[in-house]
Amino acid sequence: MARLPIAESWVVVTGASSGLGRAAALCLAGSYKAKPILVGRRMDRLLDLQSEIELRFGIASEVVSADQSTEEGRSRIAAKIEELDATAALLAAGLTSVGRFDANNISDYHSLIETNVLGFTDLLARIVSIFKLRRSETAILAISSLGAETSLPYQAVYGASKAYMNTLIQALSIELRGTSVSVGAFLPGGIDTAMAAQSDLRWGRMGLMDVDRCAASAVEALLRRRYMTVPGLGNRVAYLASRTLPRSLIGRAASFPYRRPQ
Ligand SMILES: NC(=O)c1ccc[n+]([C@@H]2O[C@H](COP(=O)([O-])OP(=O)(O)OC[C@H]3O[C@@H](n4cnc5c(N)ncnc54)[C@H](OP(=O)(O)O)[C@@H]3O)[C@@H](O)[C@H]2O)c1
Repeated sequence: MARLPIAESWVVVTGASSGLGRAAALCLAGSYKAKPILVGRRMDRLLDLQSEIELRFGIASEVVSADQSTEEGRSRIAAKIEELDATAALLAAGLTSVGRFDANNISDYHSLIETNVLGFTDLLARIVSIFKLRRSETAILAISSLGAETSLPYQAVYGASKAYMNTLIQALSIELRGTSVSVGAFLPGGIDTAMAAQSDLRWGRMGLMDVDRCAASAVEALLRRRYMTVPGLGNRVAYLASRTLPRSLIGRAASFPYRRPQ
């Protein structure tokens, strides 16, 4: 499919204050001349990114400090998308929780599910409704995880939240066939970001995908309106294995990069 034309258009990027979302916003502005709407809770980081985008590329951006887990936050994000007539959305906001399932605090799971599941679902529904009213083509990419397919021991609730995201996006992409709105899911393995740094990995940063490379692949998936993308050869092999080998074996392999919590 030809790339969605986004030069001079507004593209909303959630999770823009850090990691993959931040790198994707820079890629959209630097490589495609799109104007990013930068969303996250940490205003100082969003403002720094806004200045960097202006300084490096001379591209305008907007900042929305909003918590995706709250109704009020999601309303403000949707209002900005409507106001600026955005044509694409890259949804990278997400939280994890690391450690044995029963050692984690229920309040951590609460925040995770409110952000990755409930908040994500409501924000997605709002964006689909807005985009459906557009005459031109629009695209949405949800940043999921390879862990959704393998399951993720020691990040079990996080992996489950991403499995929810995958099945939701797959169903929605069929519902939206024949409309001007396309949705897709992006399933990276480990990326070299703050989230991976908190994941207590056995080999530290080794084997993690470079964040800029991963972001370029995500932006390409968004613009080509791909239904599902697994970036990187190693991740694609792991994905194929998750589809063909016994589930218990894949789950054990997925637990290997983690240090065993005490
Ligand atoms: N790193 C990996 O190995 C990896 C692998 C596969 C998939 N992913 C996925 O990639 C995406 C980006 O993660 P990352 O690795 O770049 O991690 P990160 O550096 O920790 O970034 C996470 C982003 O999500 C935002 N966020 C979290 N909770 C939020 C909330 N309630 N409301 C609004 N924004 C919220 C954070 O912004 P604020 O804190 O400023 O709100 C931050 O910008 C996530 O969806 C993650 O699940 C990551």
